[in-house]
Amino acid sequence: MKQERTIRVALLGAGSVGSQIARMLLTQRAEYQARCGADLELIGIAVRDVAAPRDVELPQQLLTADAAQLVAAADLVIEVMGGIEPARTLILQAIAGGADVVTANKALLAAHGPELHAAARAAGVQLSYEAAVAGAIPVLRPLLSSLVGDNVQRVMGIVNGSTNYILDSMHRAGKTAPEAMQIASELGYLEADPTLDVEGYDAAQKAAILARLAFHTELPADAVYREGITKVSAADVALAQENEQVIKLLAIIEKTVTAAGEPAVAARVYPALIPASHPLAAVHGGKNAIFVEAENAGELMFYGAGAGGAETASAVLGDVLSAARRMVGGGAPVDPPTHAVLHPLQMTDMTTSYQVRLAVSDAVAVVSELTTLCAAHQIAVVHVAERGSEVALTTVRALEVKQQRLVAEMAELPHVTEVLSVLRSEAVAA
Ligand code: NDP
Ligand code: HSE
Repeated sequence: MKQERTIRVALLGAGSVGSQIARMLLTQRAEYQARCGADLELIGIAVRDVAAPRDVELPQQLLTADAAQLVAAADLVIEVMGGIEPARTLILQAIAGGADVVTANKALLAAHGPELHAAARAAGVQLSYEAAVAGAIPVLRPLLSSLVGDNVQRVMGIVNGSTNYILDSMHRAGKTAPEAMQIASELGYLEADPTLDVEGYDAAQKAAILARLAFHTELPADAVYREGITKVSAADVALAQENEQVIKLLAIIEKTVTAAGEPAVAARVYPALIPASHPLAAVHGGKNAIFVEAENAGELMFYGAGAGGAETASAVLGDVLSAARRMVGGGAPVDPPTHAVLHPLQMTDMTTSYQVRLAVSDAVAVVSELTTLCAAHQIAVVHVAERGSEVALTTVRALEVKQQRLVAEMAELPHVTEVLSVLRSEAVAA
């Protein structure tokens, strides 16, 4: 009788995601063996505090605070502890020891992706991270495999579940941002440091990873322009609703050229207005959605749960079983090509449309002043509305640097008392 292989699996982290991975590995062991031809033996779970109470009951004998010793004994390491260190060192240790690695850690992948990939390539092991972008949604594997014969031009979507949950709760349930954030935290959507979510760092890290897979280029996360949702107010939401629009935190990554004609990538994350009829407006709660535009395939949309313990664990287990199948059947690891040289475009060189909300002392006078100012800047106004002591206007698409100069001068107009908010609008056509 054929002796089936045992793969010793080390799990680093037993939080929202890790505890669900452990549950799935332990309860579906026989089924997984049938699916991948190897027995996935969970040999240990590294945590900070082995005595801490946990939502999911885990076999106490599997818990350890000695992650390095656990990694040394593993054929496959799953890293879901988050953060840069000790995750980076442990993954490098695993790779050097010949273990395949599955991680959901976008912060690490965005900051140290090239180093981790180089190490995996040198060691001939598989490094996989489907769960790092958009939780349960299979989007990295389609970019890496199904679309590798096409030319992806643009990736755009909602890639952060917690901020989508917060904005959606402000729009549809009238919740305040802190109320919605508390629920997002209870649902396990937020990063250990929630600033990463609400200030857009998490989405920017995912944008950098998407650029690697979609455009075959290395893009540092800090080359992704980033604005979070902390300045979005209830008044912004009310105005959007009046105008049949919705505010979403978008990540947009597109191939373009610099002013000198060199190939470039324009990558940015910011809260933006979209029409209520746009498909992304129907992405509610912790869901994510990503549009991929490819030269030949046209437009594809990926939709599903963007965060959550069990949802993310699903994507992790997909990577784990794929790695196990390769260990059983043989074959080279799949490594994303990163040969393309694309210059990161500065935000000021991108084209945007602005919605500006102003507090004014005399609305009629301000509208006249704004008309003159916008004409002087050669930026047309597509919409202007007065509401008591407020005026809101939306500009046509123009270079961001010009929009910034225009707003700076609006602030100086005689009857403008304050610039209340500036939001980019993706509702205005190019
Ligand atoms: P949690 O904060 O809920 O869990 C982290 C786990 O790692 C805890 O069990 C913690 O131990 C352990 N840990 C942290 N630091 C160390 C350390 N130095 N040594 C040993 N163990 C350590 O995080 P999540 O489960 O939410 O997220 C894990 C990873 O998955 C992150 O990279 C995150 O970005 C990513 N991710 C999360 C998603 C989500 O919806 N939550 C979705 C997609 C990706 P202890 O329990 O003892 O504190
Ligand atoms: N904090 C992340 C989010 C988890 O809210 O999208 C999933 O990556």
